[in-house]
Amino acid sequence: MPGDDATGSFGLSDNEKSRLIHRMRRKSSREIHSSYREDFSSLEGDDIPDFSFKDLPGYQDLDIIWRAAGQAGIEYPFFLCHEGIARDTTRINGKTFLNFSTYDYLDLNGSQAVNQAAAQAMQKYGTSASASRLVAGERPVHRELETALANFYGVQDSIVFVSGHATNVWLLCQLFDHHDLVLHDSLIHNSVIMGARFSGAKRMSFAHNNLDHLEEILLHNRRGCKKAVIITEGLFSMDGDIPDLPRLLELKNRYKCLLMVDEAHSLGTLGPTGRGLAEHFGLASDNIDIIMGTLSKTLCACGGFIAGCKELVEYLKYSAPGFVFSVGISPPLAAASLAAINELLNKPYKVTRLQETGRFFLEYARYRGLDTGTSAGAAITPMIVGNSLLAGMISARLVQQCINVLPIVYPAVQENAARLRFFLSAAHNRDQVRQAVDAAAAELVRSREELEL
Ligand SMILES: Cc1ncc(COP(=O)(O)O)c(C=O)c1O
Repeated sequence: MPGDDATGSFGLSDNEKSRLIHRMRRKSSREIHSSYREDFSSLEGDDIPDFSFKDLPGYQDLDIIWRAAGQAGIEYPFFLCHEGIARDTTRINGKTFLNFSTYDYLDLNGSQAVNQAAAQAMQKYGTSASASRLVAGERPVHRELETALANFYGVQDSIVFVSGHATNVWLLCQLFDHHDLVLHDSLIHNSVIMGARFSGAKRMSFAHNNLDHLEEILLHNRRGCKKAVIITEGLFSMDGDIPDLPRLLELKNRYKCLLMVDEAHSLGTLGPTGRGLAEHFGLASDNIDIIMGTLSKTLCACGGFIAGCKELVEYLKYSAPGFVFSVGISPPLAAASLAAINELLNKPYKVTRLQETGRFFLEYARYRGLDTGTSAGAAITPMIVGNSLLAGMISARLVQQCINVLPIVYPAVQENAARLRFFLSAAHNRDQVRQAVDAAAAELVRSREELEL
């Protein structure tokens, strides 16, 4: 195990330090582990090395990073245990924290309407759908939720899967193959990348929100592929910025592509009534061929959905492996999401409040000199600090001040884009925003000095 001869700064051996420095300089994992044997073709019998999970290069990376963080006095910031509903404030270890790490954008989780709907569904149907809806049948709440989602976007139908991540994976695997082209924004969510990879389609990424680059790729690669799909997010989960939908529609039409938008973070946050990217631009959502969303954020449950034309939905219902060979969403969760949609429709002022707070957060963070990147000032704003240790240290120190905001470090983002990510909710107020931004700005200066950056 690395570290047996650990000495010197951060308690790391020279070998470990040089690997960490490589990591911090954004070398790829393949480069870092180039000394590891990759060709096993000539090995046989006793020459075949024993396998141990602790020898996995990725595991060793984790070990190095955590020990470096430990030596820098940074406490482990993940898997904090919340003792109640995580809203604008939350209870952790018996203390009340100001909370900027909830996806419950409209502050609906735990609301009476949502809780009651889930409890009634549980009384009536129990907690499980027991098996695949295709073979074992469904409950009324399944179709009610899918109809409500379709109506919400003004499209023909929708299909609900048990996981948001798996929704993207199985959709792409089912719709595209080696004849096809999948083009996605370089900052697209991991679930899209996984689905595109598994599909066997040609996969290319365009620079984040750079539609000139997308057009250049289309110009040289669209021909020769059967179907092509352009995939983007409504509100980007890492940077909090928004793609140019009108131009995407123009490109999609000109190059005969499908357009897919992952609305995981734009549902409830963008557009005057929270209907997402198209509404933000004053357009109809049915301009988008494939609308993907999750139930885990504004809709405060767990699961994912695809909304679009009836042929798309019907095809997926009879073929997508993650639907056909997987259990239906638990009825209480379906009922919770259905109630959350109704709350959103009945209380549009919550969307307005969230948007006002989002704009205020961005303005105030900029005023305090923080690097907020390209954030649009909607529900997500990053504070980019450009170094994973620094991001971890600031987050840990904010935890000491009872402010919960998580660091996003390599490999989730490039090392020079390491950041803290603030999620806002309709429950936050301006005083809470000021308190958090002031504390983060102060810790940025202090931690930079300590790490001599
Ligand atoms: C953009 C995006 N798409 C998909 C997902 C997956 O959704 P879920 O967490 O509901 O599985 C996430 C999760 O955060 C996401 O941010």
